[in-house]
Amino acid sequence: MQLLMLLVELALLELVFMLLLILQQMKKLLEQIKPPERSTVVDLIGTTNEIERKIEYHFFLSNMLADSIFKLFVAVFEVGQEFFISLIYAWKLLNWAWFKPRKLDKCLRQQGLKGNSYKLIFGDLKELSKSVENAKSKPLNVSDDDISPKVLPYFIETIKKYGKNCFIWAGPKPMVCVREPEAIKEVLTKYGVYQKVELTPPTKLLAHGIISYNEDKWAKHRKILNPAFHMEKIKNMLPVFHLSCSEMVSQWKEAVTEKGSCELDIWPYLERLTSDVISRTAFGSNYEEGRKIFELQKEQAEHVTEVSRTLYIPGWRFLPTKRNRRMKEIEKEVQAMIRGIIDKRVKAMKAGEANADDLLGILLESNFKEIEQQGNNDFGMTTQDVIEECKVFYIAGQETTSVLLVWTIILLSRHPDWQARAREEVLQVFGDGTLKFDGLNRLKMVTMILHESLRLYPPAEALTRRVTTKTKLGELILQEGVMLTLPILLVHHDKEIWGEDALEFKPERFSEGVSKATKGQMTFFPFGGGPRICIGLNFAMIEAKTALAMILQRFSFELSPSYTHSPQSVITMQPQYGAPLILHRL
Ligand code: HEM
Repeated sequence: MQLLMLLVELALLELVFMLLLILQQMKKLLEQIKPPERSTVVDLIGTTNEIERKIEYHFFLSNMLADSIFKLFVAVFEVGQEFFISLIYAWKLLNWAWFKPRKLDKCLRQQGLKGNSYKLIFGDLKELSKSVENAKSKPLNVSDDDISPKVLPYFIETIKKYGKNCFIWAGPKPMVCVREPEAIKEVLTKYGVYQKVELTPPTKLLAHGIISYNEDKWAKHRKILNPAFHMEKIKNMLPVFHLSCSEMVSQWKEAVTEKGSCELDIWPYLERLTSDVISRTAFGSNYEEGRKIFELQKEQAEHVTEVSRTLYIPGWRFLPTKRNRRMKEIEKEVQAMIRGIIDKRVKAMKAGEANADDLLGILLESNFKEIEQQGNNDFGMTTQDVIEECKVFYIAGQETTSVLLVWTIILLSRHPDWQARAREEVLQVFGDGTLKFDGLNRLKMVTMILHESLRLYPPAEALTRRVTTKTKLGELILQEGVMLTLPILLVHHDKEIWGEDALEFKPERFSEGVSKATKGQMTFFPFGGGPRICIGLNFAMIEAKTALAMILQRFSFELSPSYTHSPQSVITMQPQYGAPLILHRL
């Protein structure tokens, strides 16, 4: 059927082009046709008045006729051209909005998958948006870690209705839920077949770099970016992590000065901490400018989240709505600021100044090396590429890490026994002194706690991919155009995988490391997996350990009575009403 459709489409296109060619040739021919010269005719048949009048009459008629035929053909040509172009577009639109979704729907249902029937263009988007809004308005019980119905409400409703083998309509595309660990591993490994979803133009304004590229462009960027995230380089960044954390705990200390304890919403502090760390590690001495970039990117993320809840209409971004104008303003300002920082850095490097050991410095150095080794600029990144990658650091690396920290601290507030055990370990390794890199690797209890927090509250609750060519996934045959979702949160909470106590906070699951806890299966993947696994995994874990250790050294904490348990998805899984704690100075 797919082949037939393709053939019809090709035949139609060929027909259109042939007709256009014929019309063009006819136009040329007609332009060449001219009535015979008057003198030639007169020479042949004599010059009497009557003959002349007849000839003139005939000339007049033949001129008129030729002219009319010519005009007619030009008109037919123009109308035909527009008609056929419209026909192509109409066919493409019809195929996108109706034929293709119907075809994919049929293929999935034939294989036993279930979902709502397709609704023209919007699919399930309206219901999905309603369901998210509805879930947002209902906070959970403080001790409830069964957060899936709140964070992925529409998937949970669909699974309840149709069972595990289900799909939803993300606009005109069906999105199949993949939960089998083997299948998840295959999707993440075969990154050429299962590719990242093409971003819509408004989403590209937020960041358009390695995180959304595919194929050669992704491979090139990953190769150039990799050296910036090697453990050796991260080790050199520890003083920066330390400095940012020191500033934060000093502010907390000031807040508890008078009574030795106080109520404090730690969420904005953690957001500030991770943005400072990215600003400093990305841009070194220019981190004040980095801070401003972070604030603008944060606002941009809110606009993008709002926009992506509805179907993107091509061209919509050109309308001068308030949101569109603001998004473009932010984009312009962020671009200009990062470009300024990069230009300064490149000038300094060219002047022979020692290269800074921050992400931007390492990235520029790695880029120059690649261009030099390959002897061709095409192998390196352009300044625009570097700007986009800097924007990616903020989006991919900032909110994710503050989210990991906030849920870990909330969980430790609810489980004082684990808080005490973690503190004991930190004090044993570092006392109340400065943290050392080697010591961080010996924080076994803290690592177990971070892993259990990532299992229960993964910052990214699901990954998405699109099938680029007809393929087999387990028993399932997937057609090109089908989307897949890998619901990290649902797999992490699956009782069949993790046991009856899957929803309980039990860091001891990870006492012998991740591979023992998962039995080597893809059942725990907060950082994704395969070749596209999070490039900042080590960066994030070292940063989180540093922050947690420094907090545990100085404070004990519990949840404030004003805390409302309401995880919500704003690109990452955030606490909707912040995280007010009662802090006690130690
Ligand atoms: C707790 C913290 C973090 C979590 C949970 C996290 C999670 C993830 C996940 C799930 C992916 C895979 C996305 C996919 O396959 O669709 C990813 C990719 C990525 N992350 Fe992270 N991340 C964290 C921290 C960071 C940091 C600190 C940075 C950089 C400073 C970073 C940069 C990236 C980049 C560049 C990618 C794209 C890699 C590629 O496609 O090759 N992440 N992250």
